[in-house]
Amino acid sequence: MLKNTETGILLGNPPSRAELTELIASSGKLHAQLKEQAAKVTILNRGNGVYLRGLIELSNICIKDCYYCGIRKSNNKTHRYLLDEDVIVETALYAFKNHYGSVVLQSGERNDSAFVEQINRVLSRIKNETEGKLGITLSLGEQSEEAYNQWFKNGAHRYLIRFETSNQELYKKIHPNNETHSFNHRIECLKLLKKIGYQTGTGVMIGLPGQTHEDLANDLLMIKALDTDMVGMGPYIEHEFTPLYKERGKLWPLKQRFETALNMIATLRLLMPDINIAASTALQSIDPIGREKALQWGANIIMPNITPSKYRDDYLLYQNKPFTNESGDDFLSSLKLRINMSGKELVLDEWGDSLHFFNRQQKRK
Ligand code: 5AD
Repeated sequence: MLKNTETGILLGNPPSRAELTELIASSGKLHAQLKEQAAKVTILNRGNGVYLRGLIELSNICIKDCYYCGIRKSNNKTHRYLLDEDVIVETALYAFKNHYGSVVLQSGERNDSAFVEQINRVLSRIKNETEGKLGITLSLGEQSEEAYNQWFKNGAHRYLIRFETSNQELYKKIHPNNETHSFNHRIECLKLLKKIGYQTGTGVMIGLPGQTHEDLANDLLMIKALDTDMVGMGPYIEHEFTPLYKERGKLWPLKQRFETALNMIATLRLLMPDINIAASTALQSIDPIGREKALQWGANIIMPNITPSKYRDDYLLYQNKPFTNESGDDFLSSLKLRINMSGKELVLDEWGDSLHFFNRQQKRK
């Protein structure tokens, strides 16, 4: 029965929480209807283009101890690395030469001044050597206002920081209960980033132990309330060397986590038609073409991993993380083909900024 959806969002009306919950949990006919509507809304608001970001995982050194994450501080089975400044810059230049309009610099969290300074130097060098043409997104966690300001001045223009779950009880269950892992601080960081002028992205994990469909509906409402420009959401995938692994008996089957992630992406597209939504890497670890599938459910961004391959094994946020080499010419041409087959077009040499960002600037005037 399409109880809550008969009059709501599929017809372009504001949705109730109950309706969002129903869509997120949908299967069968409603699931298919949702896909169709999200695909239409994407074309109408964001067009046919799929934008690239080359993902550079520059270090797995982390001061945090999140119970779900494979690179958490207490996992002593991981070999820790930090890419050389030269290697980071070379990888970014590789992306630039191969027509990636932008890169994402991602890392475990560190906030010491040596790290902040290193990022400053890397940003300046990339900006210089590409004459300001390569777009740069950062995904480096919670930092001081000063660090966010410096990085912005040095050329970063987008920042990603997921709040992971809007259910604060659940947040406490998946993180140590201390100041380094405060939900409120994470939200403060998002607000700060917006104030500084970054295009700001957030997101959540889907299918955490004990998480309900209603929690996920609340996640979408929270994203909407935060009014962010970009979102990346993916299925939670258990990692053997983390404390949350012991809860694996409570998890939905992988296929269900995958389908629910597609429902989340599509529902969010209806809720926020002009934002950028990434097809997350975690989707690919469940289904080899999971990211391409997500492009048919409302996602319009893809982030191929271009980290030099010898470091790839050490950035294991979760198990089964794909190891495919995504940096050769062959990879780009086959990606282009797969994207064309789904009726979309790979856009090269463009930043692919969030339309929502410009719309909200316009509203403020
Ligand atoms: N499964 C899925 N996603 C994960 N992340 C971290 N650990 C996992 C996991 N086990 C995600 C978090 C984080 C992002 C960088 O990776 O959402 O914000």
